[in-house]
Amino acid sequence: MKRSGGEKWTKKHLLGIEDISREEITMILDQAKGFKEVLSRAIPKVPTLRGKTLVNLFCEPSTRTRASFELAAKRLSADTLSITASSSSFLKGESLRDTARNIEAMHTDMIIIRHASPGAAHFLSRCVRSSVINAGDGAHEHPTQALLDMFTIREKLGRVEGLNVSIIGDIAHSRVARSNILALVKLGAKVTVCGPKTMMPLEIEKTGARVTYQLEEALKKADVLNILRIQLERQEKGIFPSTREYIKSFGVNREKLKRYAGKKTVIMHPGPINRGIELSQDVADSEHSVILEQVTNGVAVRMAVMFLLSQIKSVPERAR
Ligand code: CP
Repeated sequence: MKRSGGEKWTKKHLLGIEDISREEITMILDQAKGFKEVLSRAIPKVPTLRGKTLVNLFCEPSTRTRASFELAAKRLSADTLSITASSSSFLKGESLRDTARNIEAMHTDMIIIRHASPGAAHFLSRCVRSSVINAGDGAHEHPTQALLDMFTIREKLGRVEGLNVSIIGDIAHSRVARSNILALVKLGAKVTVCGPKTMMPLEIEKTGARVTYQLEEALKKADVLNILRIQLERQEKGIFPSTREYIKSFGVNREKLKRYAGKKTVIMHPGPINRGIELSQDVADSEHSVILEQVTNGVAVRMAVMFLLSQIKSVPERAR
């Protein structure tokens, strides 16, 4: 399929930002802009994927991503099917491959998977004929989150290239951080990562990101702050000393913003927010915050991804 700029979409799956180029990211964002206009209509629906069946296969909890994919599919007139680990035959020991191939035997076209294991989406893409979209695989990638973040930055500030974007929190265990760094660097942003040393991956500089362990350094000159959810379950594993200490050193509140950040700094968070920990209540709901706009944009971005992937034909079973 040729786009207006002459580029051609060629990918059957969206498994990670690592696998797509700057041009492909831009193609998705441009396509999403058109779908955002559709979502503002009195009847926010188009027949683009009529006759297609999309499966949400969620083996980990989710509110935003799952609802967003389901709504995006419905806005494109596709049929949808939702399967969760807690109410499926996973509980009887059925493997991911068998589950997916049995669902696919009912003639489905696209599988959206969230799974705790890094690489689960890549594995699935080798087992099935359907297109596969990674909706988060362990601490590895969350590509549609990064794409909706890029869309939101572009919408708010007009571009991504040349902006200073600081990502704050548990960088080591965050698929959102990983996909965001990859997307931001590909689009030419200057990325700073900030968090406790125990939450910083080794050799993170190789990604092109600058590292700081001082919050004020991350706030200074930042056009965008992307604040990550602190995974409180990791406290038990000794990755950070205490919640109180984390709030003191890395929690973002109005006073720190006033002291160190610019007046127009955009605040992002992928959700769910631990209010009063990584982000104070007043900042989460402030004029700086675009957190709910990120959620709105997620639907348009996922419509764009589904539309582009649907242009690539499946290989028939006998030819595989
Ligand atoms: N941002 C995000 O992935 O949220 P959910 O876990 O609710 O899907």
